[in-house]
Parts: sequence; C-alpha cells; structure tokens
Amino acid sequence: MARVRLDNITQQFGKTIAVQDISFEVPDGEFWVLVGPSGCGKSTLLRTIAGLEPITAGDLYIGEQRVNGLTARQRDVAMVFQNYALYPHMTVAQNLAFGLKMRQVPKDEQQQQIQQVARSLDIEHLLDRKPRQLSGGQQQRVALGRAIARQPQLFLLDEPLSNLDAQLRDDTRAELKQLHQRFGITTLYVTHDQVEAMTLGDRIVMLDQGRIQQIGTPHDLYHHPINQRVATFIGNPPMNVLAATFTEAGLKVADQHLPVPPAIRQQLDLYPNQMVNLGIRPEKISTSRLPGPSSLALTVTVVEPLGRETLVRGTVATQATTSQPDQTLTCIVETPPTPGETLWLDLDLRYWFIFDPASGARRYPQISRA
Ligand SMILES: Nc1ncnc2c1ncn2[C@@H]1O[C@H](COP(=O)(O)OP(=O)(O)OP(=O)(O)O)[C@@H](O)[C@H]1O
Ligand SMILES: [Mg+2]
Repeated sequence: MARVRLDNITQQFGKTIAVQDISFEVPDGEFWVLVGPSGCGKSTLLRTIAGLEPITAGDLYIGEQRVNGLTARQRDVAMVFQNYALYPHMTVAQNLAFGLKMRQVPKDEQQQQIQQVARSLDIEHLLDRKPRQLSGGQQQRVALGRAIARQPQLFLLDEPLSNLDAQLRDDTRAELKQLHQRFGITTLYVTHDQVEAMTLGDRIVMLDQGRIQQIGTPHDLYHHPINQRVATFIGNPPMNVLAATFTEAGLKVADQHLPVPPAIRQQLDLYPNQMVNLGIRPEKISTSRLPGPSSLALTVTVVEPLGRETLVRGTVATQATTSQPDQTLTCIVETPPTPGETLWLDLDLRYWFIFDPASGARRYPQISRA
C-alpha cells in the first residue's frame, strides 16, 4: 500500500490539453473517486498514474518515490479498465493467478488467495471456465478479481461497473466497498456516475474540462458545492437552477417575487437588477396545494412515481403579457398531483444557493476565506 501524490500534472496530446495543473494527494489506504462529465480527463489522469502515458509536465509520486520515469510494471499498480482485457486462452482460475505467478508467489499461497477473492466476488463456480463462456458482468468481476489477487500497492479502476446491469452494479459496488475495507489498498476510482462517487469515495475529486473543480468528502460536495458545476453534477435529481433578478422586493423568478430579508440582502452584496442563478435541491422544496405568503407557483407538467416518493416536474409560470421565459423545476412530493395542476412551493432560504451566471462561482452562502 502507498500514498499517491500528483504535483501540478498537465497532460497534453498535440494541441489538446487533456488535464491541467492537477495536484492532490491520496493518503495511504484511502478510496478516492475521480468524477466528472465525459471528456473531462478522468481516464487520462488514471492512465498517467498507471504509467501508460508519458507525463507532459509535473511530478508524480507513489509512496516516497518519484515515478515519472518508471514503467507501468515498475510502479506496482493494478488497473482495471472499462473494457477489461482477460486472457482468452486461460481459465478464470489462471487469469486470477496470473499476477501472482509473475511475482513468483508460492503455489499453495496462490491457491488460497484465488479462492478467497473468487469467493468474495461470487465467481467460485466459474473457475474452470474460459472468458468467452462468461457473461459481461462475470468477466468484469474476474477482471476485478485478477487485480485484487495481486494485492498491488495501488489500485486504479476506470469505470469498472459500467458493463453490469443495474442490480449487479449495485451489488458489485457494495462488494467493492467491502473489499476495500478488508484489504485497505489505496484506490483511485474513475466514474461519471455521481451515485458511485458519493457511495464509494472517502473523497471525491470533481473534474471539468481538465481542471479540478473541487476536492472534498461526499458530504462537502453535496452540502457545500463550490460552484454551479459541482452543485448540479452531484445529487440526484440534480439541483434546480432558476434565472433570477435581484430587485427591491427580493429575487424575481419568472415574474414572481421571492422576498429576501434585509440581513441576507446585505450579505448577498448584489446591485438592483443584477442577474443571478438561484439554486435549490428538489429534496429541499416543500410543496402545498394552497399559496403561502412567499410561495412560488409551479404548473405541473410531468409526474413520475418512484414508489417511495413522486418526482414532479413543472414550470414556474410567467404571465403571458411579460417577455420572461418559463423556467422548469423539479420537486419531490408524497401525494402525486395531476399534470396541469398548480403546486405552491416554499423555497426555504436556508437551502438557497446563489451563483454568478457568468462564472458559476457561488455567491451565497458566502465561501469563507479561512
Ligand atoms: N491519446 C489521445 N490523443 C488525443 N487526445 C486525447 C487522447 N486521449 C484523450 N484525449 C482527449 O483528452 C480529453 C480527456 O479524455 P479522457 O479520456 O481522459 O476523458 P474521460 O474523462 O475519461 O471521458 P469519458 O468519461 O468519456 O471516459 C478528451 O478531450 C480527449 O479527446
Ligand atoms: Mg474515460
């Protein structure tokens, strides 16, 4: 096991800068997740750490050692790719044993480790089969098992659950978490799925367009997103963002007004008619059939029952006489309404986020500069 440190890593392919100025350190034994939209540079970073891409600029350390010049093999890392490459002519057992054999682990010890890994991934009954005799999900678990059996000092996983169906993905995700708790191998895990990021990560590194947006615990990223990109990426259903204008009366959304108390008005540091984006999570909106003193009218367009709760999408209506566009919003209710019905929303100030529409930077709650 080892810690891994990236120091101002930049990777460039011709004119494309895939990742820029990436610095972070994963402490020994922790499970970190790299998350972000497609093309943001996740795989590039992982491949760089694995030693599969030469480093354009910056320094990379595994343990105490600077590994820029070392080959993939010398780095003692195990990587599992999205399209797992199993050896087709070997059985599952031989695939699992491969890394151990290379390291000349004694035969009986090999057997023991393979049994243990196979049992924990539920592939014991498949040990004598060849990869082509397995389903996609089974192949993926063998690929994971092969990497785990090696017990590398660093474990790199690139979307390893993407070929599994929903149920198996949930099960394998829980299995991975348990395996990490058992073996404690330092792990970097790439996904574009924020649920995986939230459930697996000790910490999450959120990337966008090759740059770090925020590093933090799942709790940090959900409760204290640093900007609109992070706020809308983390959380499901995603945070609502409404275009609003700051006025004497408060915030104007579509042509409805949300009052803002003076104390908060001062903190906001906005000028009249300034445009802002108001963010609020669906799960923080309370709804009512009757208007309250400061509630916002929502015209229901789509009702999606999920069993435990119902997702409601609608528009924050605008009078036909104004030029303001309608805005869409999602909320969660217990009793399903019907499309066309009006719901009254209470957007509790405690859960407001205000972002700068141009940069996406968070204006409220203010980011403390400790
Ligand atoms: N070998 C390469 N040559 C040129 N450009 C590349 C190369 N590898 C990656 N890129 C570019 O670098 C950027 C980051 O790619 P990367 O594969 O790291 O994204 P990703 O976050 O893993 O995306 P996805 O979620 O789709 O897998 C993209 O713009 C991609 O086109
Ligand atoms: Mg990728």
